[in-house]
Amino acid sequence: MKTQVGIVGAGPAGLTLARLLELEGIDTVVLESRSREYCEKRLRAGLLEQRSGDLLRDAGVGGRMDAEGIVHHGLSLQFDGERHRVPLFDLTGRSVILYGQTEVVKDLIAARIDSGLPLQFECEVESVDAERGVVRHAGGELECDLVAGCDGFHGVSRPAIPASTLRTAEREYPFGWLGILAAVAPSMDELVYAHHERGFALLSLRSPTLSRYYLQVAHDEDIDEWTDDRIWEELAIRTVVDGWTLHEGPILEKGVTGMRSFVASPMQHGRLYLAGDAAHIVPPTGAKGLNLALADVRLLAEAIVHRHRTGSEELLQTYTERCLRRVWRAEHFSWWMTAMLHTRHDGDAFDLELQRSQLRYVTSSEAAAHSLAENYVGLEL
Ligand code: FAD
Ligand code: DHB
Repeated sequence: MKTQVGIVGAGPAGLTLARLLELEGIDTVVLESRSREYCEKRLRAGLLEQRSGDLLRDAGVGGRMDAEGIVHHGLSLQFDGERHRVPLFDLTGRSVILYGQTEVVKDLIAARIDSGLPLQFECEVESVDAERGVVRHAGGELECDLVAGCDGFHGVSRPAIPASTLRTAEREYPFGWLGILAAVAPSMDELVYAHHERGFALLSLRSPTLSRYYLQVAHDEDIDEWTDDRIWEELAIRTVVDGWTLHEGPILEKGVTGMRSFVASPMQHGRLYLAGDAAHIVPPTGAKGLNLALADVRLLAEAIVHRHRTGSEELLQTYTERCLRRVWRAEHFSWWMTAMLHTRHDGDAFDLELQRSQLRYVTSSEAAAHSLAENYVGLEL
């Protein structure tokens, strides 16, 4: 079997790339190891930068996002039992959209199936030959003019770049996030990022009836140690402010995710181009993972279309460089937000006072708040 662009992985990166290329009349085949049901249920990120929303809208898959997504103009940082609002929109003229990654993926899969284009689930790619553009999977081989490695951090695409060429930069954190989805109206109007001596907590949401809350836990925390009662109790302690109540409800899902920072470079080799988590990981505190994946495929689609139309390889050749400018900004921002908000149980009074000073600074200086806000809503890089 042959195609112009073979896409490994039907996460947000692979599916969005497939859609953008479809609109330009470029043939693609998407191969995904998991089932459709699994991909549509996998609970992950929830916050889209305005620019990510625009990309999905331009790709003709923004209808449900516009109807059901919730636009937020600000967020709160909490410390010392007080909340301080950061007015994102007033500072930057931009807002963010709360719309689950799960919903984005459902919309993209539905559009692909409507178009009748190839998307094979339960088709695990075993290896990629980056030089020849050959993708090997259980059912055979796919010969591609170009291959897009959109198969996430544990995929097979990144290892297809020779070890002698690939450079990686990495940080591991001693923290993880325990996330819950609860069938209860969110107790707040906007997201709350709370710094507390017992650990960080984040109050987020998915809809007027679904809350998404997170607790800082150990990197390798055993979820079985956390009963629903213990989760609610800990959330209430870490987010307490006078005159406000955290409403509890049935917990529909819970899970622990470890945190890391990781960047691979170059993001391309031969006919292979990496996008999204296959190339880089950020800790979730800045809500950048999904947005970076979408930003990569926007550039990759532009570069492929440019070559298709003009024969020029110029944009493909500079793909890594153009992606990594944004990626490293997001890496820094995510690391910085993580360091400012999480509690290091191995830390000392010096670490703690630096964090508290930084929190007071970003919530009292307009210049510092502006810097946080422009990174959070997404810089044009
Ligand atoms: P993925 O979504 O990982 O998609 C890759 C796809 O490739 C998957 O469908 C996978 O099944 C498939 N695949 C893998 N190997 C193969 C193979 N060999 N053959 C075929 N297919 C393959 N970000 C945030 O901003 N906030 C969050 O709260 C947040 N929570 C997260 C929780 C978890 C558990 C994880 C793993 C990530 C989280 N992220 C979060 C990050 C965000 O979800 C990712 O950045 C985003 O999913 C990246 O999209 P992607 O398409 O690059 O990769
Ligand atoms: C969500 C996740 C994040 O990592 C974040 O910073 C904000 C919101 C969420 O899942 O809703």
